[in-house]
Amino acid sequence: MRDLNENTLTDEVIARFKNCENPRVKQISEALVRHLHAFVREIEPTQQEWESAIAFLTHTGHMCDDKRQEFILLSDTLGVSMLVDAINHRMPEGVTETTVLGPFYVENAHQFPLGADITQNIEGTPMLIQGTVRSQNGSPIPNAHINIWQSDGEGFYDVQHLDSLALRGQFHADENGNFSCWTLRPSAYPIPDDGPVGNMLRAQGRHPYRPAHVHFMIQAPGHQKLVTHVFADGDKYLDSDVVFGVKNSLIRNFELHEPGTAPDGKEMDKPYAYLRYDFTLKAV
Ligand code: BEZ
Ligand code: FE
Repeated sequence: MRDLNENTLTDEVIARFKNCENPRVKQISEALVRHLHAFVREIEPTQQEWESAIAFLTHTGHMCDDKRQEFILLSDTLGVSMLVDAINHRMPEGVTETTVLGPFYVENAHQFPLGADITQNIEGTPMLIQGTVRSQNGSPIPNAHINIWQSDGEGFYDVQHLDSLALRGQFHADENGNFSCWTLRPSAYPIPDDGPVGNMLRAQGRHPYRPAHVHFMIQAPGHQKLVTHVFADGDKYLDSDVVFGVKNSLIRNFELHEPGTAPDGKEMDKPYAYLRYDFTLKAV
């Protein structure tokens, strides 16, 4: 086929996939070309704009290393990560909702006993987290595996500025599915915005902030892995989370308490926060 033009090009590109043996690769390739060509037809980029787009993607790739994943940030800030999450987690009523994993999860965080303090001496308002992990039928899941990670009161994750891990840990629930730990009250924070994704947000007139939250990953045999956050009620970014991750069912009051006896019996000589959240996993 020769003399292709703007009316015939799309069909010809798709026709070249006719010998593709993998039906999924064929389906994805065809849809990619259809949507990409439709996008180009809609915006009619100038040659210079197209070069800028290629430069943007090149810069995005150059920003990536084992500590920074700019393509995930791009997917997150364009709402693609939450769309993929929604498509893959069409949960029955009553099961805890999911949200994005984000780039700050670390696979081998320290294992802690229940009730441990995971702050590693970082300053901030102490916060007690307590909860119960249950199955869809309401029964507690003994020994459920819980991974917790969060930013500090200044909005930084350990991996962004420390040489050691802090404000994260792995736990196993007790025989009644209960877990608890002491951490710090997290604050809202900007996602890394010193790269092309930050430039994009500024060009789009958007802020880079996420509302204060604690990340949870919860696993138990016979249940679907749950990746979610619990968000702080009242945070000013709940309605404009830069990665579109907020769900009403995941918002809780990070209650501020005066010094005194905390719900786990610990005597607190300074004000502290308390978060309780009970998680329900989908049985598989
Ligand atoms: C996070 O919550 O850790 C996060 C999620 C998406 C992008 C950046 C950070
Ligand atoms: Fe986060």
